[in-house]
Amino acid sequence: METDSILIRHARIVDPSRKLDRVGDLLLGSGEITAAGRLGPDRIPEGCRVIDGAGLVASPGFIDLHCHLREPGFEYKETIAAGSKAAAKGGFTTICAMPNTDPPVDNAAVVEFIQKRARQDSLVRILPIGCVSKGRKGHELAEMEELASAGVVAFSDDGDPVYDANLMRLALIYSSDLGLPIINHCQELSLSCNGVMAEGPVATHLGLDGIPAAAEETMIARDIALAEATGGRLHVAHLSTAGSVPLVRDAKARGLSVTAEVCPHHLTSTDQWVLGRKGEPTTAAGGLAYDTSTKVYPPLRAQRDVEALVQALADGVIDCVATDHAPHDVTSKQVTYQDAAFGISVLETALGSLLQLVHAKKLSMGAMVDRLTTGPARVLGESYSDLASLQPGTAADIVLFDPEREWTVDTSEFESKGRNTPLEGTTLKGRVVATFAGGSLIYQSPELKFEEPHVNA
Ligand code: NCD
Repeated sequence: METDSILIRHARIVDPSRKLDRVGDLLLGSGEITAAGRLGPDRIPEGCRVIDGAGLVASPGFIDLHCHLREPGFEYKETIAAGSKAAAKGGFTTICAMPNTDPPVDNAAVVEFIQKRARQDSLVRILPIGCVSKGRKGHELAEMEELASAGVVAFSDDGDPVYDANLMRLALIYSSDLGLPIINHCQELSLSCNGVMAEGPVATHLGLDGIPAAAEETMIARDIALAEATGGRLHVAHLSTAGSVPLVRDAKARGLSVTAEVCPHHLTSTDQWVLGRKGEPTTAAGGLAYDTSTKVYPPLRAQRDVEALVQALADGVIDCVATDHAPHDVTSKQVTYQDAAFGISVLETALGSLLQLVHAKKLSMGAMVDRLTTGPARVLGESYSDLASLQPGTAADIVLFDPEREWTVDTSEFESKGRNTPLEGTTLKGRVVATFAGGSLIYQSPELKFEEPHVNA
């Protein structure tokens, strides 16, 4: 629906780009935010549609630096159309698509295909990420300059690490010339081996191969050393261990161009979840129960890791939350834990999960919104700062959410094709009520209330 003129009245406006957190109004027109603050009747156009924002938070649309849209090649897991609807429902208005597609995004033609599909099918802004290496094989650099000219916003071989240290070094050298980050999936393969979950008592109990924390930390340490040696832009994907936090903190303290992200599941769940949250295993082997929807890379870890990550997010050592939305088809998950695909479908539950931290007073509302808006925008670079702002004159990319609304996750209602989440059946508190992209209402929940159109006295 085109919303030429819409007034959101009496919402709690949280705009970290301007350090703003107060009740007020937002006026949208011609795709932009035209006014913000307490607006007198004389500033409101005749016939303007009015939304009652009382009790709701209005913030810039969320930005996701890391999601898997699976197109081209794996449309049975997700499509750009379905992923974009899931994003809109989750409050995201800009999402960055990882290049582990088939073919992978290692040349301009694939970037152009994604951009074309996004123009045709997507409700939200999709920013493609290009491969670091040709074919994601890790041997030879992709044509990074060609990819940058085609419009990628970062480089990554996500799903696999850039394993060869010299290739990573070269990628970082190019990244500083191109001004785009290298996002590395940190996994030292000689340590993770055949691991399928976090090393620890639960893995031992289940007899599953564990992935030690050092598999992540050694590669982060390597990458930081290479970023220091080259002056390149390093963004660490999906941090999951307590030990990764001081590595990032120290790199930042030394003034290196290093940023990091964390996923909602690593902030809110542990390896205990592998045993099956509801005690109803989806798969059982040898009398032992496990839930394959918890299988994700990096793996869910221990409570002390969760606590360290939450603290680092609150402190700003971790710059942003990224979903790592990794949708899979049913058959990729209805197998043994060993054989199941890694990944969780996250776009539609991210906000509800993160608000748990806000309700528990471990993260302020302002910090949560910052890590979903200004945080990721900063990683993308200065030219993206308007995407994370409610400043009049910027595009009306807005999410309106009710932080108190309880709802139960029912994956049959997901817009994403990926129903793979351990949160199925869980009650979360906090839900998106409306999402606007460029002033268009791209998602609305049944709770969205329109008042009578505005009439000037
Ligand atoms: C991702 C996927 O499915 O593409 N899976 C995941 O568990 N995060 C790739 C990856 O990061 O391993």
